[in-house]
Amino acid sequence: MKKAIFASAAGALLMLSGQAVLADVGKATYDKACFACHNMGVAGAPKLGDKDAWAPRIAKGLDVLKQHSIEGFSGGAGYMPPKGGRTDLGDDEVKAAVVYMVGQGQ
Ligand code: HEC
Repeated sequence: MKKAIFASAAGALLMLSGQAVLADVGKATYDKACFACHNMGVAGAPKLGDKDAWAPRIAKGLDVLKQHSIEGFSGGAGYMPPKGGRTDLGDDEVKAAVVYMVGQGQ
């Protein structure tokens, strides 16, 4: 049973190789633009991989998190600058980084 699930997951991954590219962009963007605050939890930023910190944020929905990351967000814990202060980033890069971060926090 587990094997079957794994096989179909691997198959889905192959079919969605576009999705895999997106994951690479997400990590690359995180590493250059989001890492500085989110790796250590600087200034109230939810730490990468901290499930307790991410659960209430993930509950808002991915679209809200993407919007907050692009436009900036101040929710009482601290201040998330628009695009992490990297306004040179494209919206799609920031969205991919959010997907990556949410994936690490589940
Ligand atoms: C200068 C520090 C800093 C940088 C750089 C930064 N963040 Fe944040 N981020 C924060 C802080 C602080 C919060 C928490 C804000 C709050 O909840 O009050 C936050 C919150 C978030 C949230 C949760 C928003 C919500 O609605 O709960 C997401 C998603 C996020 N950041 C994504 C990113 C992404 C993607 C990048 C890189 C493009 C990034 N952050 C770069 C400081 C930063």
